[in-house]
Amino acid sequence: MKKILAIESSCDETACAVLDEELNILSSVVTSQIDVHARFGGVVPEVASRMHVEQISVIIKEAVRQSGVRIEDVDAIAYTIGPGLIGSLHIGGIAAKTLAFFYQKPLIGVHHLKGHVFVNELLQPLQYPLLALIVSGGHTELVYIEDDDHFRILGTTLDDAVGEAYDKVARLMDLEYPGGPKIDALAKEGKKHYELPKPHASDYNFSFSGLKNAAIQMVRRCENAGEELNKADLAYAFQERALGQLLDKTKKVLEEYPVKMVLVGGGVAANSRLRQLMSEQIREVPVILPPLKYCTDNATMIAAAAFHYLKHQEFVDYAAASRSSLSIEERIE
Ligand code: KG4
Ligand code: ZN
Repeated sequence: MKKILAIESSCDETACAVLDEELNILSSVVTSQIDVHARFGGVVPEVASRMHVEQISVIIKEAVRQSGVRIEDVDAIAYTIGPGLIGSLHIGGIAAKTLAFFYQKPLIGVHHLKGHVFVNELLQPLQYPLLALIVSGGHTELVYIEDDDHFRILGTTLDDAVGEAYDKVARLMDLEYPGGPKIDALAKEGKKHYELPKPHASDYNFSFSGLKNAAIQMVRRCENAGEELNKADLAYAFQERALGQLLDKTKKVLEEYPVKMVLVGGGVAANSRLRQLMSEQIREVPVILPPLKYCTDNATMIAAAAFHYLKHQEFVDYAAASRSSLSIEERIE
């Protein structure tokens, strides 16, 4: 049975996993730097790179130990080649290249968002054409996937990513980073009270900065009027508008494309209200909502995607450069 060792280091998680081709997880080790970045109110790229340097060898060693597999016996070494924080990506890339060189293994440079897509194969087989709604701190994309090798971006954010908007609005309300889960929880106690404008973006695209600015103005208005802001109500108003947009655009694609299955991936896929809306309001095709452990970044997802690269013999050489910005449509030569 083929096996892949995969490394993920695109943002603030350092992770390594070993999977076999039936997607059994032989090991999956993740450390998050979130507590450190929370002190700064967001991910500090320089701090992230330095922490990856400190962690990566330990994490790889631990993943190999837990898997019971010798690196000599894996079929390929995979790593996240992009998109992400460039310094962080480099650390994973250098580690992967070192292992590939030393053990003379093929090297696979995985697109991070393909990881968020293919991790769902651990739950059930994917049906194509597939529509992926990828929502995180860095991405908001609707990707039409004809088969495991053909990806088309139908819509993307024209300004902020949805998770970024969550984090910024949370900071405005003095909630700790990452703000997404805090707004999610707070909104449950909120009610319809504040009115925020409905975002507008062309076609299947998204926009969140107008909504974020309207929330900022709402806070200022309250301050100037000496009124106490009801944070739960603001969290509710923001969340309904932000998620309403995700749902509306997803439904629009379903009306116009022969989609057989929808999946949601990325950190914001952990949002309880988004999960409720997607499962209640999309009835025409199956919707995959991955468990929380697969929503946030990990190396299992990179290994799951890497098996598709292996199948298509899509390898990179040692000269391959990591890319902070990289479209899911692009193929790395
Ligand atoms: O995919 P991810 O772990 O990292 C990248 O950005 O690639 O996503 C992190 C983002 C953060 O913006 C965080 O606030 C958001 O996902 N997030 C949430 C929730 N959990 C995490 N946003 C809304 N509701 C949540 N429950
Ligand atoms: Zn991610």
